[in-house]
Amino acid sequence: METPAQALKDEILRLKKEKGALIMAHYYQREEIQEIADFIGDSLALAQQAAKTDAPVIVMCGVHFMGETAKILCPDKTVLIPDAEAGCSLADSCDPEEFAAFVAAHPGHTVVSYVNTSAAVKAHTDIVVTSGNARRIVESLPAGEKIIFGPDKNLGGYISSVTGRDMLLWDGACHVHDRFSLEKVLEMKKEHPGAKVLVHPECRRPLQLVADKVGSTAALLEFARTDPAEEYIVVTESGILFEMQKGCPGKRFLPAPAEDAGCRCNECEFMKLNTLAKLRDCLRDGMPEVKVDPETAAKALRPIERMLELS
Ligand code: 13P
Ligand code: SF4
Repeated sequence: METPAQALKDEILRLKKEKGALIMAHYYQREEIQEIADFIGDSLALAQQAAKTDAPVIVMCGVHFMGETAKILCPDKTVLIPDAEAGCSLADSCDPEEFAAFVAAHPGHTVVSYVNTSAAVKAHTDIVVTSGNARRIVESLPAGEKIIFGPDKNLGGYISSVTGRDMLLWDGACHVHDRFSLEKVLEMKKEHPGAKVLVHPECRRPLQLVADKVGSTAALLEFARTDPAEEYIVVTESGILFEMQKGCPGKRFLPAPAEDAGCRCNECEFMKLNTLAKLRDCLRDGMPEVKVDPETAAKALRPIERMLELS
């Protein structure tokens, strides 16, 4: 007999077909969502995929800025998100009006914004980046160019250190990645001396410095797939472990805990708001729909397109 979980999955697949929808998921989504998605990726791959899909409906199983980016790239498509409350503390750390004032106070700078921003912040941006392409894009700017980077100070500091570019940083951070602690990772390293350390660049500088690999979710996955080690300490949101384990069944992945969370995994509660039941509901009801004010979307499109051209 069909279990309730299987019945829910079948209903999602039936609705997806009926609506012609494409289900996209970020690597931090719950396992059951990653399992049912048509496409899983990091922020860059999700934007690239949205830009080229023919599907009339995109369901973005991720957070709100990912839905907004898809909507800006595909204004004629319906973009749905299973839970409208799935925001991002990093995007929220950058108020559009304050960011506009910051930009205005520093004329002559090229404004580089992380994709983890609202459409309104992107509208004040020259070029958008993700953690997967930030280094390449900053390196493509003429030497000596004055750069403002926002909102993530940890990613900005990392890019500045690897490119040697002087960057004026917005003082923002992600509440998940900013909560990893060097001490806990060093303790884990003592217990697992052969383990390599995989760090997302939204983590603080001391963690970046002890990493064997600093990279976007997709880059960390690729490193784990191709690297010969058998054990890894994973310093990013724990949802990524599902795809890591799937891609490397013989390896061991140890999630680093948050500094204040005992031995619990570090999770993004916004990413985890999306559930299979909400995915079913949003496909069935055609809501919540991600909408972007057309004037803001028109201004935000160019810096996103520049990013895609350079990726
Ligand atoms: P990636 O682009 O590396 O997938 O990161 C997105 C994100 O929100 C990290 O917290
Ligand atoms: Fe935003 Fe951090 Fe969650 Fe990523 S992990 S979506 S940066 S709050």
